[in-house]
Amino acid sequence: MILVTGATGNVGSELVRQLHVDGHGTGVRALTRDAARARAAVPDGVEVTEGDLGRPESLKSALGGVRSLFLISGAGDDAAVLDAARDAGVEHVVLVSSITVMTHPHLGPARANLAVERRLAESGMEWTVLRPTQFASNTFWWAQSVRDESVVRVPYADVGLPTVHPADIASVARAALTGPGHRGRTYPLTGPELISPRRQADELGRVLGREVACVGITRDEAYAPMAAMMGAEVADSVLDLMGGDVNDALLAVRDTVARVTGSPARSYSRWAEENADAFR
Ligand SMILES: NC(=O)c1ccc[n+]([C@@H]2O[C@H](COP(=O)([O-])OP(=O)(O)OC[C@H]3O[C@@H](n4cnc5c(N)ncnc54)[C@H](OP(=O)(O)O)[C@@H]3O)[C@@H](O)[C@H]2O)c1
Repeated sequence: MILVTGATGNVGSELVRQLHVDGHGTGVRALTRDAARARAAVPDGVEVTEGDLGRPESLKSALGGVRSLFLISGAGDDAAVLDAARDAGVEHVVLVSSITVMTHPHLGPARANLAVERRLAESGMEWTVLRPTQFASNTFWWAQSVRDESVVRVPYADVGLPTVHPADIASVARAALTGPGHRGRTYPLTGPELISPRRQADELGRVLGREVACVGITRDEAYAPMAAMMGAEVADSVLDLMGGDVNDALLAVRDTVARVTGSPARSYSRWAEENADAFR
């Protein structure tokens, strides 16, 4: 049995779909805090189970019979979740960490991810660590202003980053969960090219069939709403990663997706085509 956390999210929902389509010979269980809501995001035939990563004692039945765990970091009490998984007999954990562990180890969110990676390495369970860069799905943040005004307002509008398609993170996770040769490996994951917010806005305009304007704003203008949503420290870190403090390691386009999955990494254009409805 494979337990997928974050199963209603960008990566987890795609992983559940891929594992289900694969029919790889072991069951798939999707974890959510709200089973009724999750049913719409999970294919028929996949078991949905309720549990809260912030309350590891609520995971007992979800972890029953599980040999492999796909774990997104930062949604709850990661250390306690790893302890619960080990106690339940889980053999292998595929962890979604972050590329910032390598590129910006001084930032708070990166330190937190590194602590979870270390906890996993010392847990006695086998592990595979995925370190993705910024997701293409972060541009869902623009959905309302694109729908209402055909505008994207963003700082660092011309800084290109190697944005990764969540489905590629899922594909790498599927390979690690179901195939040999991935245990004890750490995979930095990026998309196939550097793409700036301005070019992403152009791509959205192309798939929508109308112009989407990209309006540059200052870091200070971007900061207040972000800090209100995610807290001051995380907002500052995200702004550094969007362009305030990028470095060569963050800008590197890596071939890990292609090497692990055998298929080239998906482009932002493809993500925009697949998700155009959210911007209409
Ligand atoms: N966005 C980026 O650029 C980026 C970069 C590097 C790493 N990451 C990491 O990637 C991971 C996955 O991101 P995503 O975009 O796929 O996620 P997402 O779409 O934001 O979805 C969040 C998921 O987490 C689940 N969740 C949240 N709190 C939970 C809790 N207390 N207990 C159980 N489940 C909980 C939600 O499930 P329910 O609501 O159904 O309970 C949902 O499925 C995250 O850990 C994130 O930190 C993101």
